[in-house]
Amino acid sequence: MGDKVNIIIVEAREDLAEEGAHVFAELAGAAVVGRGRCMVALSGGSTPRKMHALFGEDPYRSSMPWNKIHLYWGDERCVPEASRWSNYGQACEDFLDRVDIPADNVHAMPGSLPPEEGASLYEKEITGEFDLVFLGLGTDGHTASLFPGDIALQEKRRRVVAVKGGQPEVHRLTMTFPLINKARKVVFLVAGEEKAEVVKSVLEDRDTRLPATRVLPSGGSLTWILERGAASLLPKEMICERKAR
Ligand code: 6PG
Repeated sequence: MGDKVNIIIVEAREDLAEEGAHVFAELAGAAVVGRGRCMVALSGGSTPRKMHALFGEDPYRSSMPWNKIHLYWGDERCVPEASRWSNYGQACEDFLDRVDIPADNVHAMPGSLPPEEGASLYEKEITGEFDLVFLGLGTDGHTASLFPGDIALQEKRRRVVAVKGGQPEVHRLTMTFPLINKARKVVFLVAGEEKAEVVKSVLEDRDTRLPATRVLPSGGSLTWILERGAASLLPKEMICERKAR
């Protein structure tokens, strides 16, 4: 897998959140200096919520260049924003309502539109390459809403498509490999012993039937931040231990 993949092990979920927030802050600062703005795609699910909550607290709430940051989502469930299953809704609860980011910089996926229409509309809203894409990992090896065996895995052209699946089993919008693998930096946040098997299958066995295995940024970097339990089946030589910040 070569040196393009950086695997960082942290002790606990709190450390995972701290490490992720630190990566975001460093990268956002550099992107704004270098390119005048920072384009970030957030992931859904439960794992990133502690990190998102940190964004809504100091130092991140007051020190991040929020007016230069553009927030997108890697995937969304086609449910109302008020639904507990809405990734955007979760982010509002976790930090968006507490940070001074211009409304025009928050690009929620249009989960309430007919899925195909929502997918093509969102594609048009993505203007440029991502500086950072956060991803999670399901126990079945899915990431974003790219599920094993789904036709969306074969997509070569479109950057956002509509799919159906996952928990909850609903229509979803998801970024595709052509878009994700163009990002300057991709960061997986993964926690929980229940994911140790799939982490091993992706990172050591390189099982390409698992969608997460096919996340390999062509010109960018790939970092896996793993809580110790999720990394418990990885051989020692593959990992770098990170002391808590
Ligand atoms: C989604 C996510 C999905 C998530 C994994 C892991 O919207 O469902 O983007 O890809 O990252 O399912 O979910 P947990 O973090 O809750 O384990």
